[in-house]
Amino acid sequence: MKISILGTGKMGSAVGRQLAKCGYQVIFGSRDPTASMDKFSGINNISIKNYSEAALSANVVVAAVPWSFALDLLKCLEDQLKGKVIVDLTNPLSADISRLVVGGNDSAAEQIASLLPESHVVKAFNTITADNFPTPNLCGEAAQIFYCSDSEDAKEVARALITAAGYEQKNCGALSNARYIEAIAMLWLQLAFWEERGSEWSFKIVGEF
Ligand SMILES: NC(=O)c1ccc[n+]([C@@H]2O[C@H](COP(=O)([O-])OP(=O)(O)OC[C@H]3O[C@@H](n4cnc5c(N)ncnc54)[C@H](OP(=O)(O)O)[C@@H]3O)[C@@H](O)[C@H]2O)c1
Repeated sequence: MKISILGTGKMGSAVGRQLAKCGYQVIFGSRDPTASMDKFSGINNISIKNYSEAALSANVVVAAVPWSFALDLLKCLEDQLKGKVIVDLTNPLSADISRLVVGGNDSAAEQIASLLPESHVVKAFNTITADNFPTPNLCGEAAQIFYCSDSEDAKEVARALITAAGYEQKNCGALSNARYIEAIAMLWLQLAFWEERGSEWSFKIVGEF
């Protein structure tokens, strides 16, 4: 299966590398494909195009850009993204990462879904950091990735990608629950960075779920 990832930053690269290792064909979208090539030298199954070509190249497209640029970029790609699954891993953070700028009764994922009504948005991959992502067995325990969507097809894609990346997948219901999954990511940042609890841990749902 082909996956396009918009953005060659820390998180997009971490997810793309892991999926490429599992045999997915990963097409990165970048503002400067030539300059971004160096980040992936020696890794099979990865190519880099401009954003428009990358969005056209696969039926599953991961949004991996900072929130402040996400809506503008996705709006420009609306035609290329029609009918496709959008995996939204963004967190709508303030520039100093001290708070969410969207939340309460809204979320980044819901805003993306409103912007792209003909795409199928699933929230996933936003609660694990880029540094931890290559190590799904954190401290010997399988870490989990929470996902939510209003589309069963998009959830199926999320399950496949999460499992391929080595994580336990947890279905967290409707897309509107993204407002709580994004808050979980903010809690992680708050504890890890602002309260200095360290960064080699993640949240886990236990019990019958
Ligand atoms: N870092 C993490 O641990 C982590 C974890 C979970 C979720 N996330 C979320 O993932 C998203 C990406 O975070 P990141 O840490 O990967 O960010 P990053 O390292 O700063 O990279 C973001 C990438 O977005 C692309 N981009 C597109 N338009 C841009 C613009 N106008 N200015 C700057 N970059 C632009 C760039 O790729 P090109 O240069 O190739 O165009 C850039 O490398 C964010 O929404 C973040 O909240 C991050």
